[in-house]
Amino acid sequence: MKKVTGLGSAPASEPTAPSTYRAAVIGTGFMGRVHSHAVRANGGEVVGVAGSSLARAEAFSASHGAGRAHADALELVRDPDVDVVHVCTPNHLHAPLSLAALAAGKHVVCEKPLATDASTARDLTRAARDAGLTAVVPFVYRFHPMAREARARVASGSVGRVGLVHGGYLQDWLLRPEEDNWRVDPAVGGPTRAFGDIGSHWCDLMEFVTGDRISSVCAQTSRFNERRGTDGGRAVTTEDLVTLQFATESGAVGTAVVSQVSPGRKNQLVLEVSGTEGSLRFDQERPETLWAGGRERTGTVSRDDPGLSADAARLVTLPVGHPQGYQDCFNALVADTGTAVAGGEPEGLPVFADGLRAAVLAEAVLVSARERRWVDVPAAEDHTDRPKGPIRPGLYE
Ligand SMILES: NC(=O)c1ccc[n+]([C@@H]2O[C@H](COP(=O)([O-])OP(=O)(O)OC[C@H]3O[C@@H](n4cnc5c(N)ncnc54)[C@H](O)[C@@H]3O)[C@@H](O)[C@H]2O)c1
Repeated sequence: MKKVTGLGSAPASEPTAPSTYRAAVIGTGFMGRVHSHAVRANGGEVVGVAGSSLARAEAFSASHGAGRAHADALELVRDPDVDVVHVCTPNHLHAPLSLAALAAGKHVVCEKPLATDASTARDLTRAARDAGLTAVVPFVYRFHPMAREARARVASGSVGRVGLVHGGYLQDWLLRPEEDNWRVDPAVGGPTRAFGDIGSHWCDLMEFVTGDRISSVCAQTSRFNERRGTDGGRAVTTEDLVTLQFATESGAVGTAVVSQVSPGRKNQLVLEVSGTEGSLRFDQERPETLWAGGRERTGTVSRDDPGLSADAARLVTLPVGHPQGYQDCFNALVADTGTAVAGGEPEGLPVFADGLRAAVLAEAVLVSARERRWVDVPAAEDHTDRPKGPIRPGLYE
């Protein structure tokens, strides 16, 4: 494995120079910008960029300080000057680009969903394991300090035995029928849209915070819009919203509502956990505080709380009163990726196995909704073993 130094265990926002975290960024949209900024915020270098055309890559390179613009993403992946490949493209390209990067001996940060089906996600997870390379999936809400604080409090037992988990992830950017995006096309976005795109984030955060696993699901999917686009648009087959009921391995029950068509909701990811001693609520639109409820005393915890857990405190990079947010989470994710690449084991780094977990859950949700029944989710800690559970092959045929 190529040794990369530079980011190490430095605080997320503290640049370390000179760095040898030399990144390739593939995809010049929202995530391409956020990943590039995170690399540079950590003192790394974006040595090359590829987009859907050379012109787009050149424009991105000029405006974001990225190095060479490439017409061919695979050429960039194989560039000997590249240590870590950041895959920020539409979903159907995640697997081929990540596999090419691993085959070239490069570490990978691949956007979610890792793949558009669990079988491919399993192949990717195995390939990363066999290559011994760092392979990260940005379930980035894990990097809010107060989400870490919620996790630490559950792990410490301060909320008691968790019996109920609920919340959801609501957006409105696909409310209207004229609103369209590559995510709507199942050949590009995959067979699940709302769940795969944002429900996967909620489930990852839920399992991360509780340390528990969803063991069975009962889901409904629905659509506001049967057609999308202008001039009559195109027929839509993927879901606008999902309601999910679930049980966990340790015996908790829960619900989640996932929507891309809820007017006025921009990016409201809320997770509430109730145990026998207390409740916790994290809202990613108000990430500076954690609501902590109790029978005797209820209040909010802020990230300057003197009792903050060490794992939450290490992600605090600004004094309270100067809000930390989404980009800071990506900065921290890239810092921890650098630590992992350098041989360290940062706490809570989301890796390909977590991307595979999301793909396994997505299949269970789709089967449940289509067949209108409860579906067991394979219990394997590591889904690289083919599941023996009731999720049938042929889902994507
Ligand atoms: N982790 C998160 O919080 C988060 C947030 C948003 C999006 N995402 C994920 O990031 C990925 C990108 O989403 P986005 O919002 O940036 O989308 P986007 O539409 O803004 O950008 C996608 C980019 O991919 C480029 N592209 C298309 N075809 C390409 C090709 N053949 N080769 C190279 N580049 C190509 C496009 O030019 C575009 O710049 C998606 O998989 C999405 O699920 C993750």
